[in-house]
Amino acid sequence: MFPLSALVFLVAGIATVTKASSSSCIGTISSLNDVSSAIKCTTVNINAFTVPAGKTFELQLLAGTTVNVLGEIQFGNKSWAGPLFEVKGSNITFNGNNQKWDGGGPFYWDGKGTNGGTTKPRPMMHILMSGTLNNVQVVNTPAHAFSVANSGPLTISGVTVDDSQGNQPNSKSSGLAAGHNTDGFDVSGSNLLIENSTVINQDDCLAIGRGTNITFSNNYCKGGHGISVGSISSNVVVSNIDISGNNVVNSAYSFRIKTDKSATNSAVKDVTYNANTATNCTQYGVLITQSYPTDLGTPGNGVTISNINFNPGTTSLTGTNSAYMVAVNCGTGSCTGTWDWSGLETIGGKAGSITNNKVITGFTQ
Ligand SMILES: *[C@@H]1O[C@H](CO)[C@@H](O)[C@H](O)[C@H]1NC(C)=O
Ligand SMILES: *[C@@H]1O[C@H](CO)[C@@H](O)[C@H](O)[C@H]1NC(C)=O
Ligand SMILES: *[C@@H]1O[C@H](CO)[C@@H](O)[C@H](O)[C@H]1NC(C)=O
Ligand SMILES: *[C@@H]1O[C@H](CO)[C@@H](O)[C@H](O)[C@H]1NC(C)=O
Ligand SMILES: *[C@@H]1O[C@H](CO)[C@@H](O)[C@H](O)[C@H]1NC(C)=O
Repeated sequence: MFPLSALVFLVAGIATVTKASSSSCIGTISSLNDVSSAIKCTTVNINAFTVPAGKTFELQLLAGTTVNVLGEIQFGNKSWAGPLFEVKGSNITFNGNNQKWDGGGPFYWDGKGTNGGTTKPRPMMHILMSGTLNNVQVVNTPAHAFSVANSGPLTISGVTVDDSQGNQPNSKSSGLAAGHNTDGFDVSGSNLLIENSTVINQDDCLAIGRGTNITFSNNYCKGGHGISVGSISSNVVVSNIDISGNNVVNSAYSFRIKTDKSATNSAVKDVTYNANTATNCTQYGVLITQSYPTDLGTPGNGVTISNINFNPGTTSLTGTNSAYMVAVNCGTGSCTGTWDWSGLETIGGKAGSITNNKVITGFTQ
């Protein structure tokens, strides 16, 4: 009896040691063919290479893996659904080392984004991991850049999305900006911090579709549609959102909460804007609307929006002469709770309309 259980322990012990030591190897990826063996290691180094057109570069990593990106990643050009890159795993340390990921945007851009024209692979970067992801430089995304549905707590920092080339029209865009629907970060996860990052694009810098405990701080957003909660569809909750210390420049909107006109059974609650700066806003500084996709249409009231605060730090907004600085379009009775906007300061632009909102305090325009 005793010797047998001792033997079982001994065998189990050897198995554990063997497993641990075999995954402590260093895997190296220089082509997609290397992926299946490299991901058996808890250190994965990625060299410069081109992902073949029509394939996803997918990393399904062991818990605790460290990834080091050591060269530029390019993607073959092909009209297909994507995604181009996907990473899964828990407690991952993903070191981008400021290496470039080039999505080949100009090959796809036609001014139509995901609303028509060429099928564009999206998202470019599908982030399903927990841990930390830093210093990833993404350029020329075909459409949406990062889609984040993290499996556990995740910090993203020092990331750049640069689609500035998409601001120019091309031969397929009929005079419009060639890049379109190039969202920076589309978020549907919880316990997420996105910090010290830059997005230059033609759509939302951040768009939170669902999730709780999400902080977006000290980021720079240029030229797109600013920082958004939404659009909110049916049966989702967005809560405990902290938007702090960001700088939004030359954007159509700066701070937006948009709920689908037809959405039901959803809630947006506890959103705090603290010490942000937005300059040269061109359409709406702050827009809270329940008539999405129309900016100021007849609102629905199937989504409750509660506790939306601009404080304690001052959020300052400047706009062009034709921009509306603040517009709020609530369905009857669906904007509730505390809306202390004493930290909101607007300069220039025009006053927008505020309808069906009886809860804003500390701010008049
Ligand atoms: C996360 O992974 C690191 C190695 O990168 C390890 O030291 C740490 O213990 C892991 N933490 C958890 C909670 O598993
Ligand atoms: C894809 O097309 C774009 C735009 O023409 C180009 O910049 C990029 O280098 C191409 N990618 C590859 C891998 O050839
Ligand atoms: C909120 O998210 C952050 C970032 O991932 C995490 O560090 C923190 O523990 C989370 N808070 C709670 C209460 O889960
Ligand atoms: C963001 O930058 C600040 C200032 O440089 C730094 O203190 C902080 O640690 C950075 N955040 C992350 C998650 O790296
Ligand atoms: C304001 O933003 C618009 C739109 O991005 C841009 O065309 C214009 O040059 C900007 N103005 C200044 C003064 O930066």
